[in-house]
Amino acid sequence: MPKPDEQRVSANEVALVAMQGTEGKGKGPGGEKWRIEVADVRAGEVYINVIQEPPLGLHASLQIYLNIKSQGRGIGRIAYAKACEASQHSTIYAHMRRSNIASRRAAEAAGFVDATPAGFTQLILRWDRSAASESIA
Ligand SMILES: CC(C)(COP(=O)(O)OP(=O)(O)OC[C@H]1O[C@@H](n2cnc3c(N)ncnc32)[C@H](O)[C@@H]1OP(=O)(O)O)[C@@H](O)C(=O)NCCC(=O)NCCS
Repeated sequence: MPKPDEQRVSANEVALVAMQGTEGKGKGPGGEKWRIEVADVRAGEVYINVIQEPPLGLHASLQIYLNIKSQGRGIGRIAYAKACEASQHSTIYAHMRRSNIASRRAAEAAGFVDATPAGFTQLILRWDRSAASESIA
């Protein structure tokens, strides 16, 4: 759940530290991985894998996981944006359940837009570098 305002973080408090990718988490061609830190403390991780999966075919897919106590403080939206900006990729997708409201809102705040093909159950959001100049980080 969202936390009180005094626990919310600002963009300059969130740092992404590049890491070696691990199996399924940013390892392999086009893969990238970062540790998310807030005031030098680990808050979670975000990684990108290039995957071949319908309905998109070959694409860069971002996943983000914050520790439970780091959730709901506004860190997700900043980390989504910083990872995309730091990435080698110009178009990045995020797949999520429609019920994952926090992930959807955080991604949209970072400039992701709905790119779900008609009739597809899972939500697919897309970030484009060229369209992201108004993002928050
Ligand atoms: C999803 C995740 C990255 C979002 O990051 P976050 O820092 O917790 O999210 P934020 O604090 O930026 O909140 C984003 C929005 O969701 C809302 N929100 C947060 N938790 C919520 C909840 N449990 N229910 C409904 N809305 C919620 C916030 O109010 C905020 O809304 P706003 O944009 O209108 O202000 C993070 O919660 C997480 O790692 N969750 C577990 C793993 C996961 O689901 N990863 C994504 C896989 S696709």
